[in-house]
Amino acid sequence: MGPTDLEGFQEARDLLASADTVSVLSGAGVSAESGVPTFRGEDGLWKSYQPEQLATPHAFRRDSRLVWEWYDWRRGKIRECRPNPGHEALARFALGARDVRIVTQNVDGLHEEAARTVAGGSDADPAMPLELHGSIFRVKCTSCTYRVPHRDPIPTESFDDLPKCPVCGSLLRPDVVWFGESLDAGVLSEAFRVAQSAQVCLVVGTSALVHPAASVPLATRDGGGEIVEVNPTETPLTPLASVSLRGASGEVLPSLLDGLE
Ligand code: OAD
Ligand code: ZN
Repeated sequence: MGPTDLEGFQEARDLLASADTVSVLSGAGVSAESGVPTFRGEDGLWKSYQPEQLATPHAFRRDSRLVWEWYDWRRGKIRECRPNPGHEALARFALGARDVRIVTQNVDGLHEEAARTVAGGSDADPAMPLELHGSIFRVKCTSCTYRVPHRDPIPTESFDDLPKCPVCGSLLRPDVVWFGESLDAGVLSEAFRVAQSAQVCLVVGTSALVHPAASVPLATRDGGGEIVEVNPTETPLTPLASVSLRGASGEVLPSLLDGLE
């Protein structure tokens, strides 16, 4: 059975084909086929810690070395991952004639990489994602406004090895949003504005448990649009979706979006 045989496939395609404006909300599942561990899957644990135990300001204050060790491990894994056909199909879709905006909860940079690859030398901007939860390949200062891209391994043997701010000497941290922290207000309001005006919100690979990100598709419904979901399992958004395709995004998206560029 191929993706086109999935229940609701034609309905989902018709909805997308007739929409001029589409917002996409993606989560960790879109990168699963690239080898990036999801948060709530079986591979989500690191040394028996749940993400909620490590991805917090409190955990970083208590044991910054441990939290940096976890991020260094995740950064190492993600550095070896490449975009999969799902990222590429979304990038082609966003570079096409429709007004498409990709909003992601992912911090892995794979939508961005797919955008550059698919665009080749030309303008990749329309396929660049709004990153709700920041980027794992940026660091920022815990005290001042210093913030830079950073891809190299982080030494985490001891606290003294951890990276410090070249401006003020304070500890640097990953430029990602942790539990209990606010999302960037500008990015968040842009995501809701885009979703509100979209005719379809295509929700891909998210458990839809973490808010406010999981509320983005609700703005599309409030604006009179419809939700199309791609996820192997049911989520809290499923009852609100016009159609849910139960498949893996790397398999479903290339067929679903084929010819809609
Ligand atoms: P989760 O790990 O919570 O959910 C991943 C979702 O992807 C699940 O619903 C899976 O069923 C689905 N999935 C798995 N494989 C898939 C595939 N091949 N194709 C499509 N879907 C697949 O990840 P998120 O929903 O992204 O926040 O988690 C939300 C936030 O919680 C993350 O951004 C992160 C985390 O804590 C922060 O870091 C702030
Ligand atoms: Zn500083």
